[in-house]
Amino acid sequence: MNNFEFANPVKIVFGKGMIARLGALVPEASKILLVYGGGSIRRNGVYDQVREALNGFDVLEFGGIEANPHYETCMKAVDIVRREQVSFLLAVGGGSVIDATKFIAAASCFEGNEPWDILYKGAPIRRALPLGVVLTLPATGSEMNERAVISNIATQQKLNFTTPLVFPKFSILDPEVTYSLPARQVANGVVDSFIHVVEQYLTYPVNAKVQDAFAEGLMRVIHEEGLKVLDNPHDYDIRANLMWAATNALNLWIGQGVPQDWSSHRMGYALTAQFGLDHAQTLSILLPGVMTYMFEEKKAKLVQMGANVFSITEGTDDERAWKTIASCEAFFKQMGLKTRLGECGIEEKDVDALAALVDEMGWHLGEHHNIDSRVAKEIMLLRL
Ligand code: NZQ
Ligand code: ZN
Repeated sequence: MNNFEFANPVKIVFGKGMIARLGALVPEASKILLVYGGGSIRRNGVYDQVREALNGFDVLEFGGIEANPHYETCMKAVDIVRREQVSFLLAVGGGSVIDATKFIAAASCFEGNEPWDILYKGAPIRRALPLGVVLTLPATGSEMNERAVISNIATQQKLNFTTPLVFPKFSILDPEVTYSLPARQVANGVVDSFIHVVEQYLTYPVNAKVQDAFAEGLMRVIHEEGLKVLDNPHDYDIRANLMWAATNALNLWIGQGVPQDWSSHRMGYALTAQFGLDHAQTLSILLPGVMTYMFEEKKAKLVQMGANVFSITEGTDDERAWKTIASCEAFFKQMGLKTRLGECGIEEKDVDALAALVDEMGWHLGEHHNIDSRVAKEIMLLRL
């Protein structure tokens, strides 16, 4: 196991009715900007619960954050924060609203001219406004991590940044608010959170038993409950287990002291930015390609994952590893996601442009840093 040093300072408030605790969690006398998305919170009652819990606070609102949040929209909120001297940001929504709020928190305090530099050039973030979260969609883990992903519509780029300054001060997770999710978003959340675990697990063994056991446990839970949730949308226990699993899948714990491979995520950004594919949809297409292309490098962990997640114990190592890849792809299909670029109307002629972001950003992805734009292209060609 490699050395590590980390802290996760996010306070989690989990369970039925917990939005009522909001007033006690926000610092006293805060001037709050409530950030939300396209209006689902107004239809499912979450907005009313939040406003009631914030009774007595000075609250401004900023709605209209898109899925895969736009830089341009976030900058409109930054103007409001600066003009109105907002002191606390409250994200009420899924990963997109939370990520947008994290970016608004950092960009509002940014001293340079162009806050896009935070994402494009890794410009340093020295301060950020404090933020809290009411989560409505279990998927990204953004409610308990220090990262965010933002899309620039003008340049057709999607990029991420990380800083401990944007860890939420608290996140409220009430599984009941997920009952109103459309099936497509439920499935996206299941697949995204499963693949978050995979990207921190499926590299090569470093004898990190705690991390491996934790990761395998999360994958088993997400697989088992994921297969039940679409037929049982109002089952509290299924929703609760999926919600807590998704948070743990990307809250830094399982990734400590182990090699990681975020190549499917990074390559997937271009599929969203250029073709508008949902984030999870990019992953269910690309991950089987990474597993196939890097078969030899990942074989030992594929065999281990097969045994401990899918109960694949028969056959040679090669056979077991291939069955693991097939089981993952079958799972994504069972959840209703596509697993081929062609199913999304993306053709061979599009692949150069999709791999170009890897080149432009100078990325060398994967646990061995050997996925450059040439390899990214070959992986994408495997998924046509
Ligand atoms: O906008 P509203 O009207 O709220 O509707 C949303 C949106 O249309 C809807 N929704 C959310 N909660 C709902 C609901 N509808 C009914 N009932 C509810 N309770 O769902 C739609 C999708 O929401 P979104 O926030 O976009 O989904 P998700 O949570 O999957 O977030 C995706 C974004 O997170 C980024 C992705 O790249 C993408 O931009 N990620 C962030 C990460 C992080 N910060 O750590 C890691 C991930 O790998 C990911 O990259
Ligand atoms: Zn993801």
